[in-house]
Amino acid sequence: MTTYLAVEGGYPLKGSVGIHGAKNSVLPILAAALLAPGECVIHNCPSLSDVEASLAILRHLGCTARREGEAVVVDASAPIRYDVPDELMREMRSSVIFLGAVLGRMGRARMCAPGGCELGPRPIDLHLAAIRALGGTIAETEEGLLCQGRLHGADIVLSLPSVGATENAMLAAVCADGVTTITNAAREPEIVDLQNFLLALGARVRGAGSSVITIEGNVPLHGGSYTVMGDRIVACTYLAAAAAAGGHVEVTGVDWRHLSTVTAVLTEAGCTVRSEPGRIALTCPKPLNGVRPIRTAPYPGFPTDAQAPVMAALCRGSGCTVFVENMFDSRYRHVDELIRMGADIRVEGRVAVVYGVRRLHGARVRAADLRGGAALVVAALGAEGQSQVEGLHHIDRGYQCLEEDLTALGARIFRRQ
Ligand code: UD1
Repeated sequence: MTTYLAVEGGYPLKGSVGIHGAKNSVLPILAAALLAPGECVIHNCPSLSDVEASLAILRHLGCTARREGEAVVVDASAPIRYDVPDELMREMRSSVIFLGAVLGRMGRARMCAPGGCELGPRPIDLHLAAIRALGGTIAETEEGLLCQGRLHGADIVLSLPSVGATENAMLAAVCADGVTTITNAAREPEIVDLQNFLLALGARVRGAGSSVITIEGNVPLHGGSYTVMGDRIVACTYLAAAAAAGGHVEVTGVDWRHLSTVTAVLTEAGCTVRSEPGRIALTCPKPLNGVRPIRTAPYPGFPTDAQAPVMAALCRGSGCTVFVENMFDSRYRHVDELIRMGADIRVEGRVAVVYGVRRLHGARVRAADLRGGAALVVAALGAEGQSQVEGLHHIDRGYQCLEEDLTALGARIFRRQ
């Protein structure tokens, strides 16, 4: 039986919503918990299918991992395995984040390379180059990649600031003898969150948030307690929902500075945004207007993960907006679905041009990826009539309680079978 979200559009949103912990922080943090011979208590850990997949990998490796309310407790004191079976790897695309931690802790790691995914091919060449720079050898066997070796500090220069490769390099370098520098590191806030977690375990890491990260490796680690930062993309999604449906919404529990490129766009489109520490309030009194070209870029540029929800909001209104998706191929899979709701969007390669229309109408649509799926919900909230959004397993990877949160804001949204 297909589960779907039934959305009755056209009701303005009103109220305040707390934002759960960041998926993209907690996944590398759970991998980092492998490095500590002691109990790690990870607070504000969202309940998401990707988190469950990470916990399954940790348990397979020999850790204990249990949920205690909003927290997850991981203990990696016991000896661990070094292989991650294919079915666990396939469960979650970002499982490659375990590579550096398993190799660092165990001296070897065996796992399959993550295949192509909904955003097009996801190469891991930069992850592997970082492992090689640290002295790891990589062999392709029938059972997947076998990485091994005693790691030593090195100067790693990334040819582009990949988030995952930066995180993998950090986790492997924590276990390496000597000092590692990562140049052209990704500067995303989630990298800072990972550094802060590692510091709580006793590691010596500095520079996260800048392009050069320095790690003094092989320092004895211990368990610790840490609170994951709020999810900036979930916050963007709810702000985009308020921009699409109209109304007044406040999101709390996120750092407004992490969203400033997105709130700048929403302001330019005609919303009033008030940002202060820990909260962002958005009022959208009238239809949106088009804005200057939106180009996705590594942080602090406009986030690729916010492209689809913001596009969904800009479909209704006046004027036109050009999007340039610079981060991933195949990241316009929401466009055909938005067109089914009456949007006027032309795509050519990396460029999408959105011509604002006076109204969208409800339709039966299907999510093809996580943020694209969230975008369909955003559009449905601003459309006239009822929509059915299918493909919820994509959305459930990154939103803990989408329909509950939106219902609390006055939306008419129901999960049905
Ligand atoms: C992370 C986020 C994802 C976000 C993306 C970009 C997590 C779990 N996911 O994904 O939500 O959309 O950052 O902000 O944190 N690349 C290579 N070779 C590599 C690695 C990456 O060519 O070895 C390319 C990718 O194909 C892509 C670009 O680099 O074009 C950026 O990817 P990357 O920053 O690695 O994204 P992820 O870490 O996969």
